[in-house]
Amino acid sequence: GLVQPPPTAGRAMAAEVAEQPHRWERLLDRSGARDSDLARAVSLVQAYRPRFVLLVARGTSDHAALYAKYLFEILCGLPCGLVSPSTMTTYDATPAANGVLMVGVSQSGGSPDLVRSLEVGRARGALTLAVTNRADSPLARAAECHVDVLAGPERAVAATKSYTAQLLALYLLVDRLRGGTGAAAARLPEAGARVLDQEAHIARLAQRYRFASRLVCTGRGYSYPTAREAALKLMETSYVAAQAFSGADLLHGPLAMIDPQVPVMAVVAEGRGGDAMLPVLDRLTASGADILTVGRASAADRADATVVLPDDVPEELSPLLEILPFQTLARHLAIARGADPDRPRGLDKVTETL
Ligand code: F6R
Repeated sequence: GLVQPPPTAGRAMAAEVAEQPHRWERLLDRSGARDSDLARAVSLVQAYRPRFVLLVARGTSDHAALYAKYLFEILCGLPCGLVSPSTMTTYDATPAANGVLMVGVSQSGGSPDLVRSLEVGRARGALTLAVTNRADSPLARAAECHVDVLAGPERAVAATKSYTAQLLALYLLVDRLRGGTGAAAARLPEAGARVLDQEAHIARLAQRYRFASRLVCTGRGYSYPTAREAALKLMETSYVAAQAFSGADLLHGPLAMIDPQVPVMAVVAEGRGGDAMLPVLDRLTASGADILTVGRASAADRADATVVLPDDVPEELSPLLEILPFQTLARHLAIARGADPDRPRGLDKVTETL
């Protein structure tokens, strides 16, 4: 049988998940100030007029970077790529970076390979920006400008509040660059609180997936980073083999491994990305998959289980809400499987010692 984790299991993670709407509120308040770090970053980027954006990050922060890629490309028409730090560290490559905005995304701002990447980019002509939760970190110091995501100290090993704070900071940056005021984001804290209110429902879902050894997470467009981050949270806390695919890629091969023993968690937002998931859901249903949908209410009739999200935020902001049920599910699933999500095996965190 499964071991019983201590009653304190997952408390740090639960607290950090719960405080997200409050952290978003603070970031929204602060970003409105004329002299904010965000305002300074926006004016530097506008003066630089980048032709291309390169993002560098790892783990959860890499998923925030992937979200930013969609934002830059769709909302600003700026081509954007994720660059692996190893090209500039392991291989000592020095990519030409004139006209490039290079963005390092990192909760801790402490990882030497990101610092090195920004140094190389800057030396090769890029404008460098650090998006971190530590204004005094080496990454923030290495960059020409810095946006603080204001998530507060993150103590749990699994990144949760820093992820959504990164998403929001990156959204506010891109929205300002295209001349927006960030007004659409004002609704997020209240909408996020409504999602977190569904904890009892999600705890029951954890029982449903308790014995699954493999899982697939999928989403399209803005929701693809959610699928990636959901899979990472599930793997690192409950050790389930969770694989993420974009809904498009799922149909180009991996669909063959789907059977009723491999539950599929599909993010189906309102908007075009979610619309494009509907044919994917049909193919999954035809494969006999056990499907959980997270997002629009109308997807429920194609699913075996569902989590409905508020439909009053624009599609490009829905990733902030979409990840919340997965964070909660990851914590409950870990506990149901006898693990303490605050102490994932084999993982450490870059924290105070920078
Ligand atoms: C996952 C997690 C890690 C970090 C990664 C990058 O929950 O915490 O994947 O996201 O180690 O760390 P930072 O953002 O500090 O550079």
